[in-house]
Amino acid sequence: MTTSAKKETSPFARLNSLLAGVEPGLPAINLTIGEPQHPIPAFVAPVIAENVALFGRYPPIRGTDAFRQTIARWLDRRYGLDATIDPERMALPLNGSREGLTLAALTARQRKPGLEKPVVLLPNPFYQAYAAGAEVAGAEVVLLGSGREGSFPDLGQVPTEVLTRTIAVYIASPTAPQGDVATLEDWTHVIQIARAHDFMIFADECYSEIYRDGPPPGVLQAADRLGAGYANILTFHSLSKRSNLPGLRCGFVAGDPDFLETWTRFRNVAAPQVPGPIQAVAVAAYSDEGHVAQNRALYNAKYDAALATLGPRVRATRPEGGFFLWLEVGDGVEAATRLWREAGVRTIPGAYLSLPLPDGSNPGTPYIRVAMVQDLATTQEALTRMARVLG
Ligand SMILES: Cc1ncc(COP(=O)(O)O)c(C=O)c1O
Repeated sequence: MTTSAKKETSPFARLNSLLAGVEPGLPAINLTIGEPQHPIPAFVAPVIAENVALFGRYPPIRGTDAFRQTIARWLDRRYGLDATIDPERMALPLNGSREGLTLAALTARQRKPGLEKPVVLLPNPFYQAYAAGAEVAGAEVVLLGSGREGSFPDLGQVPTEVLTRTIAVYIASPTAPQGDVATLEDWTHVIQIARAHDFMIFADECYSEIYRDGPPPGVLQAADRLGAGYANILTFHSLSKRSNLPGLRCGFVAGDPDFLETWTRFRNVAAPQVPGPIQAVAVAAYSDEGHVAQNRALYNAKYDAALATLGPRVRATRPEGGFFLWLEVGDGVEAATRLWREAGVRTIPGAYLSLPLPDGSNPGTPYIRVAMVQDLATTQEALTRMARVLG
């Protein structure tokens, strides 16, 4: 567990600088950005057409009744919640989960106004919007170490003095980019600590539907088992990964009704709404699991290809969730440069996705992140080239 005051810069901007002037050795294949390239579900265009008149109205910040009810039903089915999500008070649409993940930190800060030096806890590596949240809340970032197994952060290592100053923790499951999945016990532990110190859990479950063998347990499920409601918990979900709709800009947040009430007052004057036709697409998407299962199958075929192609020398693993390979390559910056120069394959050095620790070391340094978002044939071509360069 460590702290750092370093400001974030975009990993993609850093990569552009690294590779400026380096010519790709073969036609380029871009595996940097986590932008799903599988087909858009067939229902999207007709639903937008049927609801096109709604582009003529300002959408309500709380979303339509149909949207909130669909989300409550989906959470209920997915996590076995026994109808404990009140669609009136516990769910809101987001214009993609990124804006929500960032802006929620402001309200987390307002919940604990007396703190002189507020803290936001982050995993390391982490999705950049979490650090943006800490920045807009004027909070110190404290980086979490992981537990003994896997990459799920361990809040048990954080000193009490820090926990008392904490306004929020960001935690992803599946972890991104490593793809480890939190157990119900992991989530329960986080909930107990957050409630003991009255800070918010911002659970990023955007990759929850991209899994290998079984659905990841969710933070709301753990809370439901504890039986004390959803105080201190927000979960963030997105259609970007689940339904291959990164350009739709639609997700949702669900959980703590008091937090959502306060946050909605702010959002009502400041945050991006989700257009009516887009909410209608979300209703259709969250009412259908067929396209999601097909999507998972496409990713799983690519993990089979990665294990078969990269072989034991590159040591690819099959993570429980997500769509990344987090490959240990010795020096990620050097490997990403070589892959681009010799193979035309563009990947991100792990060090660009994490912050250095006070001793100067960076936990991402030995890794590259490979986003397996292209179709199988393109991914296979990239993997074959990568095996040649790295093996
Ligand atoms: C870990 C993680 N969380 C959240 C997001 C945000 O996705 P969106 O804003 O498209 O919902 C992303 C997008 O890449 C991500 O990788």
